[in-house]
Amino acid sequence: MSEIKKIAVMTGGGDCPGLNPVIRAVTKTAIMKYRLEVVGIKHGYRGLYLGEEEFINLDIEAVDEIIAKGGTILYSSNKDNLFDYTYEDENGNTCHGDVSHVGVENLEKNGIDALVVIGGDGTLTSGRDFSRKGVKVIGVPKTIDNDLAATDTTFGFDTAVSTAVEAIDRLRTTAESHGRIIVVEAMGRYAGFLALSMGVGGAADAILIPEIEYDIQKVADKLNENFARGKNYAIVVVAEGAKPLGGEHVVDDVREDSPDPIRLGGIAKVVAKQLEALTGHEARATVLGHIQRGGTPTANDRILSTRYGSYAVELLMQGKFGNMVTLDGRNMSYESLENVIGANKAVDPNGELVTIAEATGVSFGR
Ligand code: F6P
Repeated sequence: MSEIKKIAVMTGGGDCPGLNPVIRAVTKTAIMKYRLEVVGIKHGYRGLYLGEEEFINLDIEAVDEIIAKGGTILYSSNKDNLFDYTYEDENGNTCHGDVSHVGVENLEKNGIDALVVIGGDGTLTSGRDFSRKGVKVIGVPKTIDNDLAATDTTFGFDTAVSTAVEAIDRLRTTAESHGRIIVVEAMGRYAGFLALSMGVGGAADAILIPEIEYDIQKVADKLNENFARGKNYAIVVVAEGAKPLGGEHVVDDVREDSPDPIRLGGIAKVVAKQLEALTGHEARATVLGHIQRGGTPTANDRILSTRYGSYAVELLMQGKFGNMVTLDGRNMSYESLENVIGANKAVDPNGELVTIAEATGVSFGR
Protein backbone atom coordinates (compact mmCIF):
# COMPACT_ATOMS: atom_id res chain seq x y z
CA MET A 1 0.00 0.00 0.00
CA SER A 2 1.23 3.50 -0.74
CA GLU A 3 1.75 6.23 1.87
CA ILE A 4 -0.88 8.64 0.64
CA LYS A 5 -2.61 11.00 3.03
CA LYS A 6 -3.56 13.97 0.91
CA ILE A 7 -4.43 14.12 -2.79
CA ALA A 8 -5.28 16.87 -5.25
CA VAL A 9 -7.65 16.79 -8.19
CA MET A 10 -7.80 19.14 -11.17
CA THR A 11 -9.54 19.51 -14.55
CA GLY A 12 -7.75 20.71 -17.71
CA GLY A 13 -8.61 21.30 -21.35
CA GLY A 14 -12.09 21.84 -22.76
CA ASP A 15 -14.89 21.06 -20.34
CA CYS A 16 -17.45 18.33 -20.87
CA PRO A 17 -20.45 16.97 -18.99
CA GLY A 18 -19.31 14.48 -16.34
CA LEU A 19 -16.31 16.35 -14.93
CA ASN A 20 -18.17 17.19 -11.71
CA PRO A 21 -19.29 13.59 -11.11
CA VAL A 22 -15.62 12.54 -11.46
CA ILE A 23 -14.54 15.21 -8.94
CA ARG A 24 -17.31 14.02 -6.63
CA ALA A 25 -16.34 10.35 -6.89
CA VAL A 26 -12.63 11.08 -6.37
CA THR A 27 -13.42 13.17 -3.30
CA LYS A 28 -15.96 10.83 -1.77
CA THR A 29 -13.88 7.68 -2.30
CA ALA A 30 -10.77 9.40 -0.96
CA ILE A 31 -12.52 10.68 2.16
CA MET A 32 -15.10 8.02 2.91
CA LYS A 33 -13.15 4.91 2.02
CA TYR A 34 -9.56 5.96 2.70
CA ARG A 35 -9.85 8.94 5.12
CA LEU A 36 -7.63 11.09 2.89
CA GLU A 37 -7.63 14.87 2.59
CA VAL A 38 -8.61 16.24 -0.81
CA VAL A 39 -7.56 19.51 -2.42
CA GLY A 40 -9.17 20.90 -5.58
CA ILE A 41 -6.82 22.85 -7.84
CA LYS A 42 -8.68 25.54 -9.78
CA HIS A 43 -8.00 26.45 -13.44
CA GLY A 44 -5.96 23.35 -14.28
CA TYR A 45 -2.18 23.66 -14.49
CA ARG A 46 -2.35 27.45 -14.14
CA GLY A 47 -3.69 26.86 -10.62
CA LEU A 48 -0.90 24.40 -9.92
CA TYR A 49 1.59 27.11 -10.93
CA LEU A 50 -0.09 29.83 -8.85
CA GLY A 51 -0.28 27.58 -5.78
CA GLU A 52 -2.24 28.11 -2.58
CA GLU A 53 -4.49 30.93 -3.82
CA GLU A 54 -5.93 28.42 -6.34
CA PHE A 55 -6.15 25.46 -3.94
CA ILE A 56 -9.46 24.71 -2.22
CA ASN A 57 -10.31 22.12 0.36
CA LEU A 58 -12.78 19.57 -1.01
CA ASP A 59 -14.92 17.96 1.64
CA ILE A 60 -18.09 15.90 1.31
CA GLU A 61 -20.28 19.00 1.44
CA ALA A 62 -18.38 20.65 -1.41
CA VAL A 63 -19.15 17.78 -3.77
CA ASP A 64 -22.42 16.39 -2.43
CA GLU A 65 -24.72 18.22 -4.83
CA ILE A 66 -22.66 18.34 -8.03
CA ILE A 67 -23.46 15.08 -9.82
CA ALA A 68 -26.04 16.76 -12.09
CA LYS A 69 -24.04 19.92 -12.76
CA GLY A 70 -22.39 20.41 -16.15
CA GLY A 71 -18.97 22.04 -16.54
CA THR A 72 -16.43 21.83 -13.72
CA ILE A 73 -16.58 23.38 -10.26
CA LEU A 74 -12.77 23.60 -10.46
CA TYR A 75 -12.84 25.57 -13.74
CA SER A 76 -10.49 24.70 -16.56
CA SER A 77 -7.84 26.08 -18.85
CA ASN A 78 -6.68 24.66 -22.17
CA LYS A 79 -3.65 26.90 -22.61
CA ASP A 80 -1.41 26.37 -19.63
CA ASN A 81 1.39 23.89 -20.15
CA LEU A 82 3.90 24.35 -17.30
CA PHE A 83 6.61 22.64 -19.35
CA ASP A 84 6.32 25.44 -21.92
CA TYR A 85 4.79 28.36 -20.06
CA THR A 86 4.48 32.11 -20.58
CA TYR A 87 4.70 34.03 -17.31
CA GLU A 88 5.78 37.34 -15.80
CA ASP A 89 8.96 37.50 -13.72
CA GLU A 90 9.28 39.68 -10.57
CA ASN A 91 10.25 42.69 -12.76
CA GLY A 92 7.14 42.37 -14.90
CA ASN A 93 9.02 40.98 -17.93
CA THR A 94 7.27 38.38 -20.03
CA CYS A 95 9.24 35.13 -19.94
CA HIS A 96 8.80 31.73 -21.50
CA GLY A 97 10.01 28.32 -20.41
CA ASP A 98 9.69 25.23 -18.24
CA VAL A 99 8.20 26.14 -14.85
CA SER A 100 7.06 22.65 -13.93
CA HIS A 101 9.35 22.70 -10.86
CA VAL A 102 7.06 25.43 -9.43
CA GLY A 103 4.12 23.02 -9.74
CA VAL A 104 6.08 20.27 -7.98
CA GLU A 105 7.11 22.70 -5.20
CA ASN A 106 3.50 23.82 -4.72
CA LEU A 107 2.40 20.21 -4.28
CA GLU A 108 5.18 19.58 -1.77
CA LYS A 109 4.57 22.85 0.13
CA ASN A 110 0.93 21.87 0.57
CA GLY A 111 1.67 18.32 1.64
CA ILE A 112 -0.02 16.86 -1.43
CA ASP A 113 1.15 13.29 -2.05
CA ALA A 114 -0.60 12.55 -5.35
CA LEU A 115 -2.50 14.18 -8.17
CA VAL A 116 -5.57 13.13 -10.17
CA VAL A 117 -5.64 14.97 -13.52
CA ILE A 118 -8.87 14.88 -15.51
CA GLY A 119 -8.46 15.97 -19.11
CA GLY A 120 -7.77 15.24 -22.74
CA ASP A 121 -4.55 14.77 -24.65
CA GLY A 122 -2.86 18.05 -23.60
CA THR A 123 -3.71 17.67 -19.92
CA LEU A 124 -2.67 14.03 -19.87
CA THR A 125 0.60 14.83 -21.67
CA SER A 126 1.51 17.17 -18.83
CA GLY A 127 0.30 14.49 -16.39
CA ARG A 128 2.76 12.07 -17.98
CA ASP A 129 5.54 14.67 -17.80
CA PHE A 130 4.86 15.36 -14.10
CA SER A 131 4.86 11.61 -13.55
CA ARG A 132 8.29 11.43 -15.20
CA LYS A 133 9.42 14.06 -12.66
CA GLY A 134 8.36 11.75 -9.83
CA VAL A 135 4.89 13.15 -9.07
CA LYS A 136 2.35 10.40 -8.27
CA VAL A 137 -0.19 10.96 -11.03
CA ILE A 138 -3.34 9.18 -12.18
CA GLY A 139 -5.06 10.42 -15.36
CA VAL A 140 -8.78 10.34 -16.09
CA PRO A 141 -9.72 10.74 -19.79
CA LYS A 142 -12.47 13.11 -20.89
CA THR A 143 -13.75 14.28 -24.22
CA ILE A 144 -17.05 14.53 -26.02
CA ASP A 145 -15.10 13.47 -29.13
CA ASN A 146 -14.60 9.90 -27.79
CA ASP A 147 -11.42 9.63 -29.84
CA LEU A 148 -8.95 8.30 -27.24
CA ALA A 149 -7.64 4.90 -28.34
CA ALA A 150 -6.84 3.60 -24.86
CA THR A 151 -10.40 3.64 -23.59
CA ASP A 152 -13.62 2.32 -25.08
CA THR A 153 -15.73 5.32 -24.09
CA THR A 154 -14.94 8.69 -22.58
CA PHE A 155 -17.48 10.36 -20.32
CA GLY A 156 -19.22 13.37 -21.85
CA PHE A 157 -19.77 11.58 -25.14
CA ASP A 158 -23.17 10.14 -24.20
CA THR A 159 -24.44 13.53 -23.05
CA ALA A 160 -23.16 15.28 -26.18
CA VAL A 161 -24.92 12.70 -28.38
CA SER A 162 -28.17 13.03 -26.42
CA THR A 163 -28.10 16.82 -26.57
CA ALA A 164 -27.42 16.74 -30.30
CA VAL A 165 -30.20 14.23 -30.97
CA GLU A 166 -32.63 16.45 -29.08
CA ALA A 167 -31.48 19.37 -31.23
CA ILE A 168 -32.05 17.34 -34.40
CA ASP A 169 -35.57 16.44 -33.22
CA ARG A 170 -36.26 20.17 -32.96
CA LEU A 171 -34.68 20.92 -36.32
CA ARG A 172 -36.75 18.18 -37.97
CA THR A 173 -40.07 19.95 -37.28
CA THR A 174 -38.90 23.25 -38.75
CA ALA A 175 -37.23 21.47 -41.69
CA GLU A 176 -40.48 19.67 -42.43
CA SER A 177 -42.63 22.80 -42.09
CA HIS A 178 -40.55 24.58 -44.74
CA GLY A 179 -39.58 21.61 -46.89
CA ARG A 180 -35.92 22.43 -46.28
CA ILE A 181 -32.63 20.63 -46.00
CA ILE A 182 -31.07 21.33 -42.62
CA VAL A 183 -27.36 20.64 -42.33
CA VAL A 184 -26.32 20.18 -38.69
CA GLU A 185 -22.65 20.61 -37.83
CA ALA A 186 -21.25 18.42 -35.06
CA MET A 187 -18.08 18.86 -33.02
CA GLY A 188 -15.62 15.98 -32.73
CA ARG A 189 -12.39 17.42 -34.13
CA TYR A 190 -10.83 14.88 -36.53
CA ALA A 191 -13.06 11.96 -35.47
CA GLY A 192 -16.60 11.17 -36.53
CA PHE A 193 -17.90 9.30 -33.46
CA LEU A 194 -20.13 12.15 -32.34
CA ALA A 195 -21.55 12.88 -35.81
CA LEU A 196 -22.12 9.19 -36.51
CA SER A 197 -23.98 8.51 -33.26
CA MET A 198 -26.08 11.65 -33.38
CA GLY A 199 -26.85 11.05 -37.05
CA VAL A 200 -28.06 7.50 -36.39
CA GLY A 201 -29.92 8.51 -33.21
CA GLY A 202 -31.41 11.55 -34.94
CA ALA A 203 -32.41 9.60 -38.08
CA ALA A 204 -30.37 11.76 -40.44
CA ASP A 205 -30.62 11.20 -44.19
CA ALA A 206 -26.88 11.69 -44.62
CA ILE A 207 -23.92 11.66 -42.23
CA LEU A 208 -20.56 13.07 -43.30
CA ILE A 209 -17.59 12.09 -41.16
CA PRO A 210 -13.83 12.68 -41.40
CA GLU A 211 -13.13 8.97 -41.88
CA ILE A 212 -15.11 8.81 -45.15
CA GLU A 213 -14.32 11.54 -47.67
CA TYR A 214 -17.62 12.44 -49.27
CA ASP A 215 -18.76 13.06 -52.81
CA ILE A 216 -21.40 15.81 -52.53
CA GLN A 217 -23.12 14.64 -55.72
CA LYS A 218 -23.75 11.24 -54.09
CA VAL A 219 -25.27 12.96 -51.05
CA ALA A 220 -27.50 15.05 -53.33
CA ASP A 221 -28.51 11.94 -55.30
CA LYS A 222 -29.65 10.27 -52.06
CA LEU A 223 -31.66 13.31 -50.98
CA ASN A 224 -33.22 13.61 -54.44
CA GLU A 225 -34.21 9.94 -54.25
CA ASN A 226 -35.94 10.65 -50.91
CA PHE A 227 -37.63 13.77 -52.32
CA ALA A 228 -38.87 11.70 -55.28
CA ARG A 229 -40.41 9.24 -52.79
CA GLY A 230 -42.39 12.14 -51.32
CA LYS A 231 -40.28 13.16 -48.30
CA ASN A 232 -40.21 16.95 -48.39
CA TYR A 233 -37.23 17.70 -46.10
CA ALA A 234 -33.83 16.32 -45.16
CA ILE A 235 -31.51 16.27 -42.19
CA VAL A 236 -27.79 16.07 -42.96
CA VAL A 237 -25.28 15.73 -40.12
CA VAL A 238 -21.76 16.86 -40.92
CA ALA A 239 -18.78 16.47 -38.58
CA GLU A 240 -16.68 19.62 -38.27
CA GLY A 241 -13.72 17.52 -39.48
CA ALA A 242 -15.43 16.05 -42.56
CA LYS A 243 -13.76 16.60 -45.95
CA PRO A 244 -14.89 16.22 -49.56
CA LEU A 245 -13.00 13.71 -51.71
CA GLY A 246 -9.48 15.06 -52.13
CA GLY A 247 -10.47 18.29 -50.33
CA GLU A 248 -9.40 20.12 -47.18
CA HIS A 249 -10.81 20.74 -43.71
CA VAL A 250 -12.77 23.94 -43.15
CA VAL A 251 -10.96 25.93 -40.46
CA ASP A 252 -12.89 28.49 -38.44
CA ASP A 253 -10.06 29.95 -36.40
CA VAL A 254 -6.42 29.55 -35.39
CA ARG A 255 -5.76 30.07 -31.67
CA GLU A 256 -2.02 30.54 -31.39
CA ASP A 257 -2.09 30.40 -27.57
CA SER A 258 -3.60 26.91 -27.57
CA PRO A 259 -1.52 23.70 -27.67
CA ASP A 260 -3.82 22.56 -30.49
CA PRO A 261 -4.35 25.87 -32.37
CA ILE A 262 -6.69 24.76 -35.18
CA ARG A 263 -10.42 25.25 -34.54
CA LEU A 264 -12.46 23.46 -37.18
CA GLY A 265 -15.83 24.84 -38.17
CA GLY A 266 -17.93 26.19 -40.99
CA ILE A 267 -18.38 23.13 -43.16
CA ALA A 268 -22.17 22.99 -42.62
CA LYS A 269 -22.60 26.24 -44.53
CA VAL A 270 -20.51 25.00 -47.44
CA VAL A 271 -22.43 21.72 -47.62
CA ALA A 272 -25.81 23.50 -47.32
CA LYS A 273 -25.02 25.81 -50.26
CA GLN A 274 -23.87 22.90 -52.42
CA LEU A 275 -26.91 20.76 -51.59
CA GLU A 276 -29.26 23.66 -52.30
CA ALA A 277 -27.68 24.04 -55.75
CA LEU A 278 -27.72 20.30 -56.49
CA THR A 279 -31.27 19.52 -55.26
CA GLY A 280 -33.18 22.76 -55.76
CA HIS A 281 -34.37 22.52 -52.13
CA GLU A 282 -33.77 25.44 -49.83
CA ALA A 283 -31.05 24.60 -47.30
CA ARG A 284 -29.97 26.02 -43.95
CA ALA A 285 -26.98 25.32 -41.73
CA THR A 286 -27.02 24.96 -37.93
CA VAL A 287 -23.79 24.75 -35.95
CA LEU A 288 -24.44 23.08 -32.59
CA GLY A 289 -21.05 24.19 -31.23
CA HIS A 290 -20.57 24.34 -27.48
CA ILE A 291 -24.20 23.39 -26.81
CA GLN A 292 -22.83 19.84 -27.17
CA ARG A 293 -20.45 20.41 -24.25
CA GLY A 294 -22.87 22.06 -21.87
CA GLY A 295 -25.61 21.03 -19.50
CA THR A 296 -26.39 18.26 -17.12
CA PRO A 297 -24.74 14.88 -17.75
CA THR A 298 -26.91 11.92 -18.72
CA ALA A 299 -27.40 9.05 -16.28
CA ASN A 300 -24.91 6.95 -18.28
CA ASP A 301 -22.26 9.67 -18.07
CA ARG A 302 -22.86 10.15 -14.34
CA ILE A 303 -22.36 6.44 -13.78
CA LEU A 304 -19.27 6.23 -16.03
CA SER A 305 -17.75 9.34 -14.42
CA THR A 306 -18.36 7.94 -10.94
CA ARG A 307 -16.64 4.70 -11.93
CA TYR A 308 -13.67 6.57 -13.45
CA GLY A 309 -13.25 8.85 -10.43
CA SER A 310 -13.54 6.16 -7.80
CA TYR A 311 -11.21 3.81 -9.68
CA ALA A 312 -8.62 6.58 -10.02
CA VAL A 313 -8.38 6.70 -6.22
CA GLU A 314 -8.17 2.90 -6.03
CA LEU A 315 -5.21 2.99 -8.42
CA LEU A 316 -3.50 5.65 -6.31
CA MET A 317 -4.00 3.59 -3.16
CA GLN A 318 -2.60 0.52 -4.92
CA GLY A 319 0.49 2.55 -5.86
CA LYS A 320 -0.23 2.23 -9.59
CA PHE A 321 1.03 5.72 -10.44
CA GLY A 322 1.65 7.03 -13.95
CA ASN A 323 -1.48 5.38 -15.33
CA MET A 324 -4.73 6.51 -16.88
CA VAL A 325 -8.05 4.93 -15.93
CA THR A 326 -9.74 3.22 -18.87
CA LEU A 327 -12.97 1.44 -19.69
CA ASP A 328 -12.18 -1.93 -21.23
CA GLY A 329 -15.39 -3.52 -22.43
CA ARG A 330 -17.56 -3.52 -19.30
CA ASN A 331 -14.70 -3.24 -16.82
CA MET A 332 -12.54 -0.48 -15.42
CA SER A 333 -8.87 -0.94 -16.22
CA TYR A 334 -5.78 1.21 -16.72
CA GLU A 335 -3.01 1.95 -19.19
CA SER A 336 0.33 3.70 -18.76
CA LEU A 337 0.26 7.44 -19.49
CA GLU A 338 3.37 6.73 -21.58
CA ASN A 339 1.22 4.78 -24.05
CA VAL A 340 -1.96 6.82 -24.25
CA ILE A 341 -0.71 10.21 -25.41
CA GLY A 342 -1.43 11.03 -29.06
CA ALA A 343 -3.03 7.62 -29.55
CA ASN A 344 -6.32 8.58 -31.12
CA LYS A 345 -8.93 6.31 -32.61
CA ALA A 346 -11.14 6.82 -35.62
CA VAL A 347 -14.48 5.50 -36.83
CA ASP A 348 -14.05 2.30 -38.83
CA PRO A 349 -15.54 3.20 -42.25
CA ASN A 350 -16.75 -0.39 -42.56
CA GLY A 351 -17.65 -0.86 -38.91
CA GLU A 352 -20.98 -2.02 -37.55
CA LEU A 353 -22.67 1.33 -36.98
CA VAL A 354 -21.71 2.71 -40.42
CA THR A 355 -22.88 -0.52 -42.07
CA ILE A 356 -26.19 -0.46 -40.20
CA ALA A 357 -26.69 3.21 -41.01
CA GLU A 358 -26.15 2.47 -44.70
CA ALA A 359 -28.51 -0.50 -44.51
CA THR A 360 -31.19 1.85 -43.19
CA GLY A 361 -30.73 4.29 -46.02
CA VAL A 362 -28.20 6.79 -44.67
CA SER A 363 -25.78 8.26 -47.23
CA PHE A 364 -22.14 8.82 -46.27
CA GLY A 365 -21.51 10.35 -49.68
CA ARG A 366 -19.59 7.32 -50.97
O1 F6P B 1 -12.28 18.32 -28.02
C1 F6P B 1 -13.51 18.83 -27.64
C2 F6P B 1 -13.95 19.94 -28.56
O2 F6P B 1 -15.23 20.37 -28.13
C3 F6P B 1 -13.96 19.59 -30.04
O3 F6P B 1 -15.03 18.76 -30.42
C4 F6P B 1 -13.93 20.95 -30.67
O4 F6P B 1 -13.37 20.91 -31.96
C5 F6P B 1 -13.05 21.75 -29.73
O5 F6P B 1 -13.07 21.05 -28.48
C6 F6P B 1 -13.47 23.17 -29.52
O6 F6P B 1 -12.53 23.79 -28.71
P1 F6P B 1 -12.77 25.20 -28.01
O7 F6P B 1 -13.69 25.00 -26.85
O8 F6P B 1 -11.41 25.62 -27.60
O9 F6P B 1 -13.39 26.10 -29.04
